[in-house]
Amino acid sequence: SQKDEHYLIGVSQCSEDEWRTQMNKEITREALFYPQAEVKIKTAKDDNRKQIEDIKEFIREGVDLLVVAPNEANAITPVIEEAFDAGIPVVLVDRKIHSSKYTAYVGADNYEIGRQAGMYIANRLHGKGQIVEITGLKGSTPAVERHRGMMESLAETPDIKIIAKADAKWFQQDAEKAVDSILPQHKQIDLIFAQNDRMAIGAYRSAARQGRTKDIAFVGIDAVWSEGYGVDRVAAGELDATFIYPTGGDRVMQVAMAILQGKPYARDTNLSTALVNRSNARIMQMQTEHILRLDQKIEILDNQLDAYFLRYSAQRMFLYACIII
Ligand code: FRU
Repeated sequence: SQKDEHYLIGVSQCSEDEWRTQMNKEITREALFYPQAEVKIKTAKDDNRKQIEDIKEFIREGVDLLVVAPNEANAITPVIEEAFDAGIPVVLVDRKIHSSKYTAYVGADNYEIGRQAGMYIANRLHGKGQIVEITGLKGSTPAVERHRGMMESLAETPDIKIIAKADAKWFQQDAEKAVDSILPQHKQIDLIFAQNDRMAIGAYRSAARQGRTKDIAFVGIDAVWSEGYGVDRVAAGELDATFIYPTGGDRVMQVAMAILQGKPYARDTNLSTALVNRSNARIMQMQTEHILRLDQKIEILDNQLDAYFLRYSAQRMFLYACIII
């Protein structure tokens, strides 16, 4: 029946930032291809308690499927288990939980990204140097996995030493503050690796204020393409490199619909990463701008279709009215 074909999908995002905005846009754009789906997005603004509330509200509303990017694994695991046990399929995106009670995961392999970053650092410094690591929110799984991956690959280059570390919770300002106090303590720093670009940009700003950007390379993760973000800062020569952390909102929506419609789907959808440095940053910007224009056309077409249907049904009503009279 018509009723059975309506699917309510609740998306619970842990944070609100450009990376997540991109993902949310991809989800809603992909949803245009599934007229039977309705998507509601809530954002917890990095607050575990708010996210638990958001998810509980979705459960009360009777969502047919939950998409969750869990802020911190420990705190968010129980409420996800609750939803899963109540029979609501759960698609985890980007961050994970400490339980196997979820239906599917869509995201990149953060351990692998950390490993690739480690290899890049080792090459960049020719196997020798002093580095600083700025980590993301302690209890979020990408922070843990990126660190493990990086340590694993740096284990092969014992002459690369991590001389300072700070947890900046994924935030630019926290990174800036942390680096403000780290820099004066260490005369020789060859590279600052931040687990996301926002923190890498914060580190760069701090170093710029202290006149230390010349001898330090800044490496991040995310590669958001819009102005002022990762790729743009690499192209500008502020960041030395970044790694693509794909948002994959379209894939999230496809997996969600496959689950709801009883079609085959992968429990694990692994989105791949790639290095962005000075040699390919501009190309990436150009390609993304091109894709963006195509995306906008899809939206324009969708609006036009809506307008046609509206006109069509109005004309049909008019015709019926004429016949009856
Ligand atoms: C965005 C973000 C990214 C980071 C990811 C980790 O909210 O902080 O910068 O790569 O989350 O989950």
